[in-house]
Amino acid sequence: MPYAKRQILVTSALPYANGSIHIGHLVEYIQTDIWVRFQRLRGHTVTYVCGDDAHGTPVMLRARSLNLAPEAFIEKMNHEHLTDFSGFGIAFDQYYSTHSSENAQLCRAVYAKLSAAGHTLWKEVEQFYDPVENIFLPDRFIRGLCPHCRSPDQYGDSCEVCGKHYAPVDLIEPRSAVSGAAPVRKKSRHLFLRLENFRDALEKLLRGGLVDTSIANKLDEWFSDELKDWDISRDAPFFGFEIPGEPGKYFYNWLDAPIGYIASLAHRLGTVAEADEFWANPDLEVHHFIGKDIVYFHALFWPAILMGSGRRLPTRLSVHGHLTVNGEKMSKSRGTFISAQQYLRHLDPQWLRYYFATRLGPSPADLDLSFSDFTARVNSELVGKMANLMSRVAPMLSRLLDGQTGVVTQDALALLDSFRRAGDEMADAYEGRHFAAVTRTACALADQANKFVEDNAPWALVKHDPEAARGVLTAALECSRILAIYLKPIVPGISAKIETCLRTGDLKWSDIEFFMMPTRILPFEHLVSRVDERNIQTMLEENQAVPAAQPPQVSTKAAEGTNAAAPATASMTAPAAANPDFEPLAAICTIDQFATVDLRVGRVLTAEAVVESDKLMRLELDAGPLGKRHILAGIKKAYTPGQLTGRLVIFCANLAPRKMKFGVSEGMVLAAGPGGKDVFILGVDSGANPGDRVH
Ligand code: 2FM
Ligand code: ZN
Repeated sequence: MPYAKRQILVTSALPYANGSIHIGHLVEYIQTDIWVRFQRLRGHTVTYVCGDDAHGTPVMLRARSLNLAPEAFIEKMNHEHLTDFSGFGIAFDQYYSTHSSENAQLCRAVYAKLSAAGHTLWKEVEQFYDPVENIFLPDRFIRGLCPHCRSPDQYGDSCEVCGKHYAPVDLIEPRSAVSGAAPVRKKSRHLFLRLENFRDALEKLLRGGLVDTSIANKLDEWFSDELKDWDISRDAPFFGFEIPGEPGKYFYNWLDAPIGYIASLAHRLGTVAEADEFWANPDLEVHHFIGKDIVYFHALFWPAILMGSGRRLPTRLSVHGHLTVNGEKMSKSRGTFISAQQYLRHLDPQWLRYYFATRLGPSPADLDLSFSDFTARVNSELVGKMANLMSRVAPMLSRLLDGQTGVVTQDALALLDSFRRAGDEMADAYEGRHFAAVTRTACALADQANKFVEDNAPWALVKHDPEAARGVLTAALECSRILAIYLKPIVPGISAKIETCLRTGDLKWSDIEFFMMPTRILPFEHLVSRVDERNIQTMLEENQAVPAAQPPQVSTKAAEGTNAAAPATASMTAPAAANPDFEPLAAICTIDQFATVDLRVGRVLTAEAVVESDKLMRLELDAGPLGKRHILAGIKKAYTPGQLTGRLVIFCANLAPRKMKFGVSEGMVLAAGPGGKDVFILGVDSGANPGDRVH
């Protein structure tokens, strides 16, 4: 079945640079990557671009809290994000950043077009301002009592308890989440995009297949009212691009974020001009994969920006739902707020790719990662059916028949035919993002093939008719090969091992149609292990014990289901020497228990003697990606504050925070000695960085 070669540009949403990648993010990147790999397997030309969403107030504040320049911070995060994505096999062609010269150039060009065409206007607006930090406060940085249900500590834009939306100025007893100060109202000039100018085109676009009908129906309500002008500027101090000719005014990061898709492409191709040309190609399909919380930005603002700046529109928005874990929102206290790195430390990324595939369909419904279901499905389907086939047959052929394949037995032709006939259905399912259907069909095929092996018992057959046994095993390997093709987008790591063993080279979708050439297969390499529930348990427990990987993060999304801004928890204490201020450590500790102690490097930012205590010093540590830690340490007699400031220390990062007489302590600085003046802080190599693990 020949098909026309398509040229496809694919994007996943650009993750914010202020936080680590977690399994909630991975739904989208795994979904996109599966789709991209499928298209490549079919022979289409795909360019998959992404990058960090590096601008905005949260990034600026986070960098500041780490004593880093925003540029240095985002560079570090960019590296971390890319490493995490690589760990899950996400095959970007380009992973870039919105903080780039290409993006700056594109934003300037877009702005020039929008303003020349009369799509922008300046208006004065009144906003909350933090009088201590001297910054205007984004909605998510204002907390207070909900004006509807009076629940305390709610965000400035919506209440997590009653779900109502409101304006920050309606919040009762508002407080700045940055300084804690009562915000004041302050006026400022802002730049707006006149969305109403694009009403007709936007309506047409949404009805014209940009999104699924179910989403388009929901979006209809947007058009029942006037489309409000969209505020696309922010005041200094801000980390972003300054608006040309408007000192102290910056483009809002949600303006430059989607433009960052084109900037990432520009970096891939070489220049902005080349990216513009590539983007303009009418034969190019542009597919954006996004979460349902940012449909508004991609279905209204982004097309308006594109139209207003004379650019073509995306072909399709593929919208997915949010992840829950064991039926609930990811939670730090339950240990289910799992970062990419935490997952990779304990579990196989191919399992998550497979499991997400079994849960993913075309609708934007939320999906649940239930760990019991995860274990059951991976073990019974991926390992027990699909890998099982190859793991039985390949070693059997090597052991009994020198690994030499032959001609498939006639009896297997019907089976192989049904394997091949499934191809179109599989391809349709992939195309429509119905990955659950792909895995279902693959399981059914694997069942048939396993039954065929069982029924033909090649291990017995070989004794009296070795060539017949070879034909049976060869047929079973053909089935494995076709399954390897069908599952290649989902579990590329497993398919690659099958390709190696069968010496097929890089399999393409069209290879379904052919038979393998006779070959001597290579020694079989174990494909994939079973999930051991104990590993999941360890991960969850460790995750509960270890402080959150970051300090409180504030999301700038309208509604983010997975970024509960729970404060980082950590722990405390000082030298374990007899000290009435501290509880004694457990007397017996096994080596395994000791291995769970998370020792990290911290830099002393400030040190201050606790006046009321004769032993305690209050330290503020920069713990790198872990954020800041306040620790009360019993070293007052041994050190002056001046001797400590700027110094690198080792601290235990995963003790529970302790409320002490003089405040909460969030960790324990390691020191040794008999006590009093003779307490010595352990030395740290000067090349170490805050947050580094100490082994
Ligand atoms: O919601 C988010 O996580 C945003 N950082 C996504 C930006 S996508 C695009 F527009 F750049
Ligand atoms: Zn409420």
